[in-house]
Amino acid sequence: MRLRGLEAPRLNIRPARVSDVPAICDLIKSFADKKLMIRRTLGELYEAIREFYVAVDDDGQIIGCSALHVFWEDLAELKCLAVSEQAQGRGVGRKLVDACWDSARVLDIKSVFTLTYVPEFFERCGYAQIEKSELPHKIWNECVRCPLFPNCNEVALIRSVSVSAAMTFNHQALMPLAVGV
Ligand SMILES: CC(C)(COP(=O)(O)OP(=O)(O)OC[C@H]1O[C@@H](n2cnc3c(N)ncnc32)[C@H](O)[C@@H]1OP(=O)(O)O)[C@@H](O)C(=O)NCCC(=O)NCCS
Repeated sequence: MRLRGLEAPRLNIRPARVSDVPAICDLIKSFADKKLMIRRTLGELYEAIREFYVAVDDDGQIIGCSALHVFWEDLAELKCLAVSEQAQGRGVGRKLVDACWDSARVLDIKSVFTLTYVPEFFERCGYAQIEKSELPHKIWNECVRCPLFPNCNEVALIRSVSVSAAMTFNHQALMPLAVGV
């Protein structure tokens, strides 16, 4: 449910530009400091800039970001989702999640998963919980960088073009690339 009395900010969701990277870095850092997200360096963000979307308010300020990272022909991860505290509760997060889903559809990727401490939010955005063990090993490579590793209780959720697609993405194709964590 939205916060009563607060209008959705006028905002633009667009692919990120390199000039957005410092603001994205600061936004992610503000939540990484609270152990809610994995910290990203400027270098990592510049390299991955094509994966990012940003929410920009009327004043041109970055108030949110998200990213879609492709893993395989049928699977991508929604990551780096953050909305500045002042802009939360007004639909910005949902729009950033939708932007990644639309991007996956353009790429013809059938399933998008995420790992999160806020599963209820993603359920509101059309994602359904799955067992983490259903995801390919390769996705755990980043977990060693998490401040809560190995005692994290992140929840895995997935959205697919069809329910059956959620259960049939090609696990085996990713297994040989797995690096143990
Ligand atoms: C989680 C986060 C992205 C949500 O962004 P937001 O802009 O506040 O979310 P929205 O306003 O778009 O909310 C969409 C829906 O989810 C619900 N929702 C939002 N945050 C929620 C939460 N923490 N728990 C449960 N439901 C939540 C809203 O009530 C709304 O419901 P509706 O369908 O009834 O309208 C934001 O709180 C955030 O950046 N948190 C800190 C960083 C973080 O945890 N990122 C996720 C890491 S994977």
